[in-house]
Amino acid sequence: MQPTDLPPTELESMNRDHRDQVEMLRAVVDALDALDDSEPRRRALDEALEDFAVHTREHFRQEDDQMRRYHFPAFDLHRESHAMAIARMDTVLARWRVDGDRDALGSYFRTEFPAWLAHHVGSMDVICAQFVAGRAH
Ligand SMILES: [Fe+2]
Ligand SMILES: [Fe+2]
Repeated sequence: MQPTDLPPTELESMNRDHRDQVEMLRAVVDALDALDDSEPRRRALDEALEDFAVHTREHFRQEDDQMRRYHFPAFDLHRESHAMAIARMDTVLARWRVDGDRDALGSYFRTEFPAWLAHHVGSMDVICAQFVAGRAH
């Protein structure tokens, strides 16, 4: 996935966050591709995973705050979509720490999450940004 694969929204701050999110996703995939049995490579992957998880949580939290502040009508639905994505991400990361299954982790970061993200941004973030941009000035 490339940052340009995501549909643009009307909020530049949101677009920036989405670009960062895709960059962090790509960093995880690169670290996974480079993974061998060495400690530095394993550490590089752990750091990339941590950066991705922290950024993703923070981004969803910011969107939730914005929707709450501007009384976005579909707030509950959108917030629920974030919560489910975080729960799934936490499950995948917890499993990875237990079983170290590279294929399962790779499938999540190469296929599952990018597909979810493209759909989420296209169906929810675009509408949310449109609403917030209309209210914010
Ligand atoms: Fe978003
Ligand atoms: Fe969102």
